[in-house]
Amino acid sequence: MYNGKTIELPVLSGSCGPNVIDIRSLYNETGLFTYDPGFTATASCESKITFIDGDEGILLYGGYPIQDLAEKSDFMEVSYLLLYGDLPTPQQKKEFIKNITMHTMVHEQIPSFYRGFRRDAHPMAIMVGVVGALSAFYHDSLDIHDPRQREIAAYRLVAKVPTLAAMAYKYSIGQPFVYPRNDLDYASNFLHMMFSVPTEPYEVNPILSEAMDKILILHADHEQNASTSTVRLAGSSAANPFACMAAGIAALWGPAHGGANEAALAMLQEIGSPARIKEFVNRAKDKNDPFRLMGFGHRVYKNYDPRATVMRETCHQVLKELNIHDDPLLDIAMELEQIALSDPYFIEKKLYPNVDFYSGIIFKAMGIPTSMFTVIFALARTVGWVAQWKEMICDPLQKIGRPRQLYTGVAQRPFVDITERR
Ligand code: CMC
Repeated sequence: MYNGKTIELPVLSGSCGPNVIDIRSLYNETGLFTYDPGFTATASCESKITFIDGDEGILLYGGYPIQDLAEKSDFMEVSYLLLYGDLPTPQQKKEFIKNITMHTMVHEQIPSFYRGFRRDAHPMAIMVGVVGALSAFYHDSLDIHDPRQREIAAYRLVAKVPTLAAMAYKYSIGQPFVYPRNDLDYASNFLHMMFSVPTEPYEVNPILSEAMDKILILHADHEQNASTSTVRLAGSSAANPFACMAAGIAALWGPAHGGANEAALAMLQEIGSPARIKEFVNRAKDKNDPFRLMGFGHRVYKNYDPRATVMRETCHQVLKELNIHDDPLLDIAMELEQIALSDPYFIEKKLYPNVDFYSGIIFKAMGIPTSMFTVIFALARTVGWVAQWKEMICDPLQKIGRPRQLYTGVAQRPFVDITERR
């Protein structure tokens, strides 16, 4: 009821999760907008890809629990699931892998693009540029209304982002770019492009490649988070897919989102020794101090992040495999985890270590520099972004995204001539 007028708004039910109030007629009927900064209670779209129940700590891709996928599946199967809605049959999996591996190389002119960047450029800055630049190289997959072109753009993105990511790393350390190897699986190929050099053979450690594959699975999609919503919003204007992914990478870069794994490691470095953990925990609890424990808390999970559970286990496996027992940063991380898990402030606010806390530690142990952490998150999330973008383009109800606002600026006033301004 508003201004004496009562209107009825339908309540829609999904297959899981809270019902939603359909407010599409609200403005026409009442002249009211809704106000929800940060979209904490707003469903921006209908989707069949990923489901999260933050209170219960549940994450499903296409209905399958993330723990099962991480344990029993692999990144190529999960990518297929996200893109096509079902796990592939053996034949479909074979074809999908062939389609991806056929696109792993990048255009030979792309290396010149890298050389335009400063050596010390952040690899995320490079990724924003080069992924967007793919639209200038692959004109034959830009027509978003052609399903075949959309599919090729999807293959290209999933296949080329690891190559571009490894190139960003190689460029930063002055080593030659390494071509992809299509006889290796997706995660092993990425490690090969990151760590091999032309002067000697490189054997991918299967435990590390398995850990990398799990990291990719766990980060592959997370429904309507900031970067995915950015991809959808950019794509809603019918922008080309490569430019939309570049927008997603830009949104992911922030420390409140994908940048948290890098920020978590930087925080561990700043803490410096287990003796100083208490001081930082106290700062995180101090209302007058903007400091937060990076790698803790989540907008949606108010229970343990199910990805963090898998990641924690993988983290311990990797540390054991690499025989790392006395890394001071890892000691700080493990002690911080224990303190935060038993501190009433974190317990009451349901602030658990999130996926980024553990992935940062694993990457560090693998010898991956901190500046590459968010790049690997972007690599994993590319398939999720592409799946969500494809779903949006095919949605008959899709419209250009155009939020409204609560204006609190000056109301209309007469123009003041410059000679009369005081
Ligand atoms: N350290 C200390 N206090 C915290 C933290 C933290 N990491 N996170 C939230 N709080 C407190 C916050 O101060 C607030 O307290 P109060 O109610 O007394 O004002 C309360 O918890 C709720 O915080 P919020 O900012 O309203 O929660 P949010 O849902 O808007 O923020 C978040 C979620 C992830 C941005 C936040 O927890 C955070 O900044 N965490 C650190 C960054 C991080 O690890 N981000 C990665 C998220 S997981 C990967 C991804 O999705 O990209």
